[in-house]
Amino acid sequence: KPIVLSGCQPSGGLTIGNYFGAIRNWTKLQQENECLFMLVDLHAITVRQEPELLRERIYDGLALYLACGLDPEKSAVFVQSHVPEHAQLAWALNCYTQMGELSRMTQYKDKSAKNVNNINVGLFDYPVLMAADVLLYQANKVPVGNDQKQHLELTRDIADRFNNLYGDTFVVPDPFIPEVGARIMSLQEPTKKMSKSDDNPNNYVLMLEEPKKIEKKIKRAMTDSDEQARIYFDPEEKAGVSNLLTLLSCATGESVESLVPQYEDKMYGHLKKDVAEAVVNLLEPIQTRYHELRKDEAALRQIMAIGAEKASVRAAETLKTVYDRIGLIAKP
Ligand code: TYM
Repeated sequence: KPIVLSGCQPSGGLTIGNYFGAIRNWTKLQQENECLFMLVDLHAITVRQEPELLRERIYDGLALYLACGLDPEKSAVFVQSHVPEHAQLAWALNCYTQMGELSRMTQYKDKSAKNVNNINVGLFDYPVLMAADVLLYQANKVPVGNDQKQHLELTRDIADRFNNLYGDTFVVPDPFIPEVGARIMSLQEPTKKMSKSDDNPNNYVLMLEEPKKIEKKIKRAMTDSDEQARIYFDPEEKAGVSNLLTLLSCATGESVESLVPQYEDKMYGHLKKDVAEAVVNLLEPIQTRYHELRKDEAALRQIMAIGAEKASVRAAETLKTVYDRIGLIAKP
C-alpha cells in the first residue's frame, strides 16, 4: 500500500482552508493507503507560543482530527514531538541542505518579514524538519494545500541528493494537491491566502467557530464593484466571487461548472447566503463530535500514545539506515 503522510500546526484554531486544502483529503486517502497524520508541535514553536495554550491546542487539534473523520484504527494519528526521530533526522538533513535553498523559501521570506523581532533559526530551518517528517516514513504521497508545494519540492531535492550520494535511501515523495480548494482565499482580501495567523479575524473562518459568526463573516465577504454583479469563476478578475464559488463547491461537493449556471440571475447576496448555509451545515456535525471528543483527555492521550507507537517503528528503521549510510556507529 502507498504511504501517505501529512500534518497541520496546532497553533490557533484550524481554518476551513486547512480543512478543504488538506484534512478533508486525508480522510479520503485513509481507505486505500497506509496513512500517518500528525500535529506538528515542533513546527509550531518556530513562533512564540504560550505554553499552557499550546498544550490545550494540541489536544484541540487531535480532537478535531478525529471529529473530521481521521480514524486511529486505520491511520497513525500522532504528535510530532512524541517521535524523537523527526528532530534527529532533521539534524542529519541539515547537513545536506544549503543556506541558499532555505533563503529562497517564500514562506520563510513572508514569515520573517512579518515577524522581525523573532527571526529565529528554527523558522529558517522549518522546511528541513518538514522534509524529515516526510522522508522518515518513506511517504509516497503528501496531501497538502498549494502553499506547501515549494517545501515539498525542497523535500524531493534533499531526498534526491542523499540518494545520489549514498544509494537509494529515501522514497522521493509526490505532493497531492486537490483540484478544488488547494488555496482558499481570505474573505476580506481575496487576493491573499486564508490564514489563521491573519491579524483580521474577518479574513478567516475557523472550523470551531460559532455558526452565527461564520454566517456573519461569509455574508460580509469582499466581492467586487462590478455594477451588474455577475457571478462567474475567474480568480483574477473576480477573486472574491471565485473564492465563494470554490467554498460552495468544497462544502457541497458540486463542481464549480455546475454551480455557476445556477447563479446566472442571482445576486451576490444569494451566493453568500448559500455559501454560509453550506459551510455551517458541513461544520455543525464536526463541531458536535469535536465537543464530545474533547471532553475526554484521557482517551485523547491514549490515542496519541498508540499513534506514536505505530509511527515509531518505521521512523526508527529509516533513521538507523541513514546513520549507517553516513558512517555513524549504531549504539552497541
Ligand atoms: P499548516 O499548518 O500551515 O497548514 C496545514 C495544511 O493546510 C493547508 N492550508 C490551506 N489549504 C488551502 N487553502 C488555505 N488557505 C490553506 N491554508 C493552509 C496547508 O497547505 C497544509 O497542507 N508545514 C506545514 C505542516 C507540515 C507538514 C509536514 C505537511 C509539517 N510537516 C509534512 C505535510 C508533510 C504547515 O505549516 O501547514
